This record gives sequence, C-alpha cells and structure tokens, in this order.
Amino acid sequence: MGAVETVEIANVDASDLQEFVEIYRLAYKGLEEYAYTTTRDIKSYFRWLLKRDRNGFFKAMIGERIVGFLACDTRWISHVEGVEVGEIHEIIVHPRFRGRGIGKKLVEKGIEYSKQQGRQICELWVGDRNEKAKEFYRSLGFKEADKWGKWIRMVRKI
Ligand SMILES: CC(C)(COP(=O)(O)OP(=O)(O)OC[C@H]1O[C@@H](n2cnc3c(N)ncnc32)[C@H](O)[C@@H]1OP(=O)(O)O)[C@@H](O)C(=O)NCCC(=O)NCCS
Repeated sequence: MGAVETVEIANVDASDLQEFVEIYRLAYKGLEEYAYTTTRDIKSYFRWLLKRDRNGFFKAMIGERIVGFLACDTRWISHVEGVEVGEIHEIIVHPRFRGRGIGKKLVEKGIEYSKQQGRQICELWVGDRNEKAKEFYRSLGFKEADKWGKWIRMVRKI
C-alpha cells in the first residue's frame, strides 16, 4: 500500500456479501451482544439489507479490496419520528483501516443519498456500550435522542 491511497465508494451487489462476512465478524469482536454471530444469520442479514434499499448499500474500496461498508435505508419509517428517514442500519470499517476517515466518507455518502431521496433526518441505533461508535457519530453531528433496552437512538437533521 502506497502513501497515497484512494478510497472509492461504490454500490454493493449480491456478489460482495460473502466478503463482508469476515469483515463484519472482525469489526464486532468484543461487541458480539450487538451483532449476529452465525454465518447463516450474518448472510441473511446482508441479504435483508440489500433488499431493503439496494441503492443505499455502499462499499468502500482501496484498489480491489473491500475495507468497509454502510447500509442506509431510505424506505425506513422511524417509529419515533413517524416519517421516512435515512436509517443507517449498519456501518463497518475493517479494524486495520480505521482512523483514516473511511467511516466518515461512508456516512457522508449515506447522508447525501438520503437527501437525494428527499429525507430530512438520518437515524441509527447504536449499542449502549459501543463508546467508539457513539463518539464517531457525535463527531459527525449525530445526537443521542432515546434509549430502548441496550440500544441508543441517534439522529441528525440533514
Ligand atoms: C465506528 C467505525 C465505523 C468508525 O470507522 P473509522 O473509519 O475508524 O472512522 P473515521 O476514521 O472516519 O473517523 C471519523 C471521526 O470519528 C471519530 N472517531 C472515529 N473513531 C473513534 C474512536 N475510536 N474514538 C473516538 N472518536 C473516534 C473521530 O473524531 C474521527 O475524526 P478524525 O478523523 O478527525 O479523528 C469503526 O470503528 C467500526 O467499524 N466499528 C465497529 C462496528 C460498529 O461499531 N459499527 C457501528 C454500529 S451502530
């Protein structure tokens, strides 16, 4: 890997899902209480994400390598807001590629897509002990809004 590496964001298709499984498992190490753990469950979750909003499912690539992904669902009706929002169901960056702005780039892409689809709010639910992710979302302008069991709802007007 050279000093100058370009991260490209592209739409996901079904053939990417197999590669996501390992990144997902690595990313959720220590946070399994918030994640699916069997290969079968993880794969069916990814298929569900693709079905929900295919155009909002993005991967981050460095060369040919997938280093992260984000699933943003603009058909989601927020139970709390009572309107369609850009719901960030999932964001993952491979542990080895963190801290260099890839997550930020993915969220910005999700926000841009949500705006294009006419949404005015982005929403997500994050595990209450997932301090890194909460800090990450705060830095991107999301605010903690509600708690439901072990999940915290965070929102951002877009
Ligand atoms: C959360 C996650 C996606 C962040 O990805 P990332 O590529 O490392 O994030 P970025 O490098 O784009 O960080 C953007 C900003 O978020 C903040 N941030 C990121 N990681 C942080 C951390 N560990 N602690 C505090 N702040 C953090 C920083 O302010 C950073 O800005 P900076 O680059 O100016 O320092 C990644 O850590 C991850 O995959 N976590 C495991 C899966 C997960 O918890 N997903 C969320 C489920 S709801």
